[in-house]
Amino acid sequence: MKKTFLLVALAVLSLVGKVRADEGMWLPMFVERLNYVDMEKMGLQLTPEELYSINNSSLKDAIVGLSNGDRPRGFFCTGEIVSGKGLMFTNHHCGYNSIQKLSTVEHDYLTDGFWAKDFSEELPAEGISASFLVRMEDVTAEIFSVLNDTMTWAERNKAIAVKAKELEEAASEDGKYNPIIKGFFEGNEYYMFVYQVYTDVRLVGTPPSSIGKFGGDTDNWMWPRHTGDFSIFRVYADAEGNPAAYSPENKPLNPKHHLPVSLDGVKQDDFTMIWGFPGTTERYMTSFGIDYNVESFYPTIHDIFKLQTDVMDEFMQKDAAVNIMYADNKAGLANTWKNFEGQMLMLRKNKVAERKAELEAQFTEWVNANPARVDEYGNVLNTLAENYAFAAEVTPSIYYPNFVSQTGPIAIAAEFGAYVETANLKDKEAVKAAEESLQGIDADAYFAETHKALEDKTLVEMLKLYYNTFDAEANPEFYNLVEKKYKGDVVALANDILENSIFASAESIKAFIAKPNAKKVEKDPAYVVFNTMINHMLGSIAPYRASMQIIDENNHLFVKGLREFYAETQPGKSLYPDANSSLRMSYGSVRDYQPADAVQYDYVCTANGILEKYVPGDYEFDVPQRLLDLINAKDFGQYADENGELIVCFLSTNDITGGNSGSPIMNAKGELIGLAFDGNWEAMSGDINFEPKLQRTINVDARYVLFVIDKFAGATNLIDELTIVKSN
Ligand code: ARG
Repeated sequence: MKKTFLLVALAVLSLVGKVRADEGMWLPMFVERLNYVDMEKMGLQLTPEELYSINNSSLKDAIVGLSNGDRPRGFFCTGEIVSGKGLMFTNHHCGYNSIQKLSTVEHDYLTDGFWAKDFSEELPAEGISASFLVRMEDVTAEIFSVLNDTMTWAERNKAIAVKAKELEEAASEDGKYNPIIKGFFEGNEYYMFVYQVYTDVRLVGTPPSSIGKFGGDTDNWMWPRHTGDFSIFRVYADAEGNPAAYSPENKPLNPKHHLPVSLDGVKQDDFTMIWGFPGTTERYMTSFGIDYNVESFYPTIHDIFKLQTDVMDEFMQKDAAVNIMYADNKAGLANTWKNFEGQMLMLRKNKVAERKAELEAQFTEWVNANPARVDEYGNVLNTLAENYAFAAEVTPSIYYPNFVSQTGPIAIAAEFGAYVETANLKDKEAVKAAEESLQGIDADAYFAETHKALEDKTLVEMLKLYYNTFDAEANPEFYNLVEKKYKGDVVALANDILENSIFASAESIKAFIAKPNAKKVEKDPAYVVFNTMINHMLGSIAPYRASMQIIDENNHLFVKGLREFYAETQPGKSLYPDANSSLRMSYGSVRDYQPADAVQYDYVCTANGILEKYVPGDYEFDVPQRLLDLINAKDFGQYADENGELIVCFLSTNDITGGNSGSPIMNAKGELIGLAFDGNWEAMSGDINFEPKLQRTINVDARYVLFVIDKFAGATNLIDELTIVKSN
């Protein structure tokens, strides 16, 4: 009881006090108490009530979490409402999956773009949902009321899950709302967010990828950047303005608030504010966690994803249909491996683990000064060190076999494992039932939306990578298989699967289902490989999971201790919680940076850079003729800056991460000046440690967005719908 009370008291304590601008993803609910004075000093002209209010319309009502389905637990991107008729801006890379799904070779909106001329031409984007925050509240006390000191970590988590579910159900008002409870500060506080989820969302407009994804994966995560990374959707509601499944009867949503769009542009040091749904940061990660990631987890995932995207690239660039089929999948994998590559580089270069180790040394000193603290925190860092080191050792043995087992015919073979097991029981009834359930398998579905040559090559390359990663000692079973049956040639094994496995084609699967025979599956090369993968993982999975649990528990304990440490040693320091896919606000300024000695990066880039990067016919750097013509003629209309140039993107010091993509960046008056869409290479370590000197958010300028809509696409119907403002 007392401990719980102490925790809550501390939680409140740590949230009051002075803050530093730029760093931090803050909870809007606390803006008045924690941030407002600072924001006003930096230039903000809105009142706290205009930012966040649960009774009156406020800025928060224009911010949208994008997700899939009608009961999301988190958000992959952010959008903002920009008209009284539910018009929503987000990034091109956020709408990418929807645009892909609506594209065919005949109507290739990825390549050519799409612009609805009126409501009737807008295209239902199935699956995507738009969540609006109704309110949020602190539920730490309720959650902690079901915990006690004798619980194990697993019992504690279970009790929290049960209580959270109960609170969420009570707040849902019979399904009207989607309440989500999330843990903060590694489970040291809990907040509930109540959302209204709209599922009728339609594609209104998108530039071609040569604008929306200009620079492709080469420019991704980098500045200078010349990408028009935006797309446009509309949220629909029923006649009463409530969420409703798609229906032609639905009406454009009349929102509580929409953002005006400013043509004023940006100057160095201008106040900026970004609201959105950052997904994950790990700002409280220890040096041991960093070592684990840099040495084990990141390189493992990096190598697998890079291999997969390299193969995809080869086939996508040759064939428009294949390009559409794999577009979003490839973009996601490439975005991740390049991020991990950047993190490995910059965590080292920016000496993040070393700086964390210094903090840990100070923490240890503080712990050792007091026996009660030694009791509680004396082992936390050692335990983390040990368990991360163990996890680092076994991580390759988890992820490599896991991804191989998810590849092509091996993944399909896996689905027949239950049948084989049943057949081996020799219970006639059960075997009959299992054979009957095989009849329900849709063999064609396994191969739908896949390209055979691409998938085949992926299998070959994945098996090669796996074979080269683990030697005879690390995985004798697979090694012996390749040695004995294929004379040491892993490609021969891959070809055996592709040529002879039941699971390599829909036809052979259908033939097998018509006359099932478990013995045949057991001898099947894809099934044999699947089993070696499972056996490889089996050796490590249980201890790996156990170590991950211990890591969780001790991260929770470390952050608890760290907050006490700060409260005592640096009273007044406000801590902000890690990103966790809940609505946050970050504020800062427009700012240039120095990526290296003697190098200065401007805070804006212009359309001239598009011409500089232009490579005719290139997969990533081609430019549509119409855009070339407009830029060459400097025909920028009201979207030009005072020098007659067209600003494409700009930099700010705001603290964001993945999930913030599509977020509005606003000026001191809460007007839209751009859309956040990326972070910069030199600060790729930023999810673990914010780097004030180096870390920047990359935003597409609202004037470029409007220029593309208006001058490039001629979609004046959309321009007319916006509230465009310009101060003089
Ligand atoms: N780095 C951006 C993010 O994580 C995604 C950019 C997508 N573009 C790309 N070339 N893959 O939000």
